[in-house]
Amino acid sequence: MLKYAIIGFGGLGRVHLSNLNRLSKEGYDLNLVAICGTTAEKFKESVSLNLGDVDCSDIDISNCSFYDDYKELIDKENPDFIVSAVPTYLHKEVAVYALSHGINVFSEKPMALNVESCEEMIKASKNNNAFLMIGQCLRFDSSFVKLKEYVENKTFGKVNRAEFTRYSQTPLWTWNNWILKEDKSGGCIIDMHIHDVDLINWIFGTPKSIHSVMTENKVEAEAIFTQYEMKDGTLILSSADWSMPQKFPFEAKCLVNFEKATVVIKDNSVVVYTDNEVIEETFDGESYFYNEMKDFVECITKKCTSETTSTESILDTVKIVMAEVKSAKEKNTIYINMEEEK
Ligand SMILES: NC(=O)c1ccc[n+]([C@@H]2O[C@H](COP(=O)([O-])OP(=O)(O)OC[C@H]3O[C@@H](n4cnc5c(N)ncnc54)[C@H](O)[C@@H]3O)[C@@H](O)[C@H]2O)c1
Repeated sequence: MLKYAIIGFGGLGRVHLSNLNRLSKEGYDLNLVAICGTTAEKFKESVSLNLGDVDCSDIDISNCSFYDDYKELIDKENPDFIVSAVPTYLHKEVAVYALSHGINVFSEKPMALNVESCEEMIKASKNNNAFLMIGQCLRFDSSFVKLKEYVENKTFGKVNRAEFTRYSQTPLWTWNNWILKEDKSGGCIIDMHIHDVDLINWIFGTPKSIHSVMTENKVEAEAIFTQYEMKDGTLILSSADWSMPQKFPFEAKCLVNFEKATVVIKDNSVVVYTDNEVIEETFDGESYFYNEMKDFVECITKKCTSETTSTESILDTVKIVMAEVKSAKEKNTIYINMEEEK
């Protein structure tokens, strides 16, 4: 049996608890022992995210204790793993505390607000032989798994160019509005745009150079527009903006123009356009949040890791997004050489 605790019980804490509850119903031997950041009464409340409503009120909490200090929870409960879904500025301190007690950690994206914090998290994981996984959830989205296959297998020839866009209403649903403060969340760039940066890094590799511009009309670090030049000369463009009005529907789209086809990923669908036909890929419809949590539990149970869960690869994503912030602030093209840095 794996004893676990949730630290941070807002939107994502609830999403992860509902998936862990589903996994235990499906036969995984999991036992929720504690939650930090809510009370038994408030536990019942549902929350609304741009991904829909999350409600955990039917989950059995008879064996669950409630804490408001995560250190006390870890010291008293000594769980096998924690899921950390606290605001981003707390990711490093929660993960390092748990890892240094030998506890496995699933920590939400973005890994942390700077490269040094990410490196500290990786070091704490290695030194204490405790597994660390970061919730870069789109690596578990069947659409992007398929796209990675197309790119690696050159199914439609080589990639000519690609573009990633992600637009959201201004997020007004977080605890104390922490997400709107750049020093706490990194703004749209480090919080939301990182999803596309991670896909670019995971599918296409690290870019040779990047050039970014950003805007700050409504809130801090609200939008970024980046041009990536890849090592083989491929051009990728990416835009992210969370300064849209509240009625604007969340929208994320990826388009990859291959030699022999154009692939569009939007609203969980993958459509391949060629000169002669339109092919729509179909998937099992499983949510990436469920897939990633299942992978995390299996990694702990089987004591294995994978390229998908590699924290070194996610550190590279953070390095790229930090280079984008630097490029936008200094109005410069930044050349990236991960190998030299290692
Ligand atoms: N993977 C994704 O697609 C995705 C989507 C949304 C959010 N996130 C990430 O998840 C994390 C949480 O975001 P959210 O939207 O759930 O935020 P949220 O504000 O809804 O929830 C954060 C919770 O943490 C609690 N908290 C604050 N300080 C705490 C502490 N010291 N100890 C314990 N709990 C504490 C707050 O009370 C709140 O309930 C962020 O890092 C965010 O970037 C990821």
